[in-house]
Amino acid sequence: MYGSNYCNTSRAFIMFRQLLRAAPKTRLYVRPARFLSFDPKDQPRIRIGSEAPNFTAETTKGKIDFHSYIGDSWTVLFSHPADFTPVCTTELGAFARLEPEFTKRNVKLIGLSTEGVDSHNAWIKDIEDVATGGKPFGYPIIADATKEVAFKYDMLSEADFKKIDGGMVPTVRSVFVIDPKKTVRLIMTYPASTGRNSAEVLRVVDALQLADKRGVATPIDWTEGQDVIIPPTVSDEDAKAKFGDFVTLKPYLRTTKAN
Ligand code: BEZ
Repeated sequence: MYGSNYCNTSRAFIMFRQLLRAAPKTRLYVRPARFLSFDPKDQPRIRIGSEAPNFTAETTKGKIDFHSYIGDSWTVLFSHPADFTPVCTTELGAFARLEPEFTKRNVKLIGLSTEGVDSHNAWIKDIEDVATGGKPFGYPIIADATKEVAFKYDMLSEADFKKIDGGMVPTVRSVFVIDPKKTVRLIMTYPASTGRNSAEVLRVVDALQLADKRGVATPIDWTEGQDVIIPPTVSDEDAKAKFGDFVTLKPYLRTTKAN
């Protein structure tokens, strides 16, 4: 399943699953209103430091205006390919279990796929069964049936971007860490075949918040409590005044305690 045919297999799997789920209900498919323009020239170019594009959307916790949802918090916006899929179930379960740690850091979580609220809510019951130890699933999942958010945040593979005008398309595994000023601070993108590392998302939040608070940088594989790096733009004199003791390994590589 995870070989070179993974993408085709996974799309067939999603379509098959949707047919199975839709069949007993014999209801009409109501095509969601099309987003105004899917023209690539109208797509925002999101970089680290860009303002996070705003949008309104239906979610499992009601309709939101994204910037109002962010409010004064940090936010992790992450997409997953489709509901009722195995890797996504493990991922959303892991983020649900870690949610108290994100909350402690003033971080809100919000998931997304291009399926509807009813589908998300039905799937959440499964996630609670297998991945949260029965605890209620806390954070909202965006029902991006119009694909507006997937388009704005470029959450699609090359092949699926070409099909964005058609029916449901699976989003890739995008992660955006956004600060309270609505600035995009970190972007990660994983393919459908590779589940993310929820601890890494928490780690980068710690690194970003520490960088803001203390004016430091964090080295490879840094985790909370380990020494940090004094940026080369800070003179030794200023470093002494600001951080007290520090270690000079090279004139451009100086470390100090995090707190
Ligand atoms: C998943 O396991 O999450 C998954 C499987 C197939 C396609 C997309 C996602």
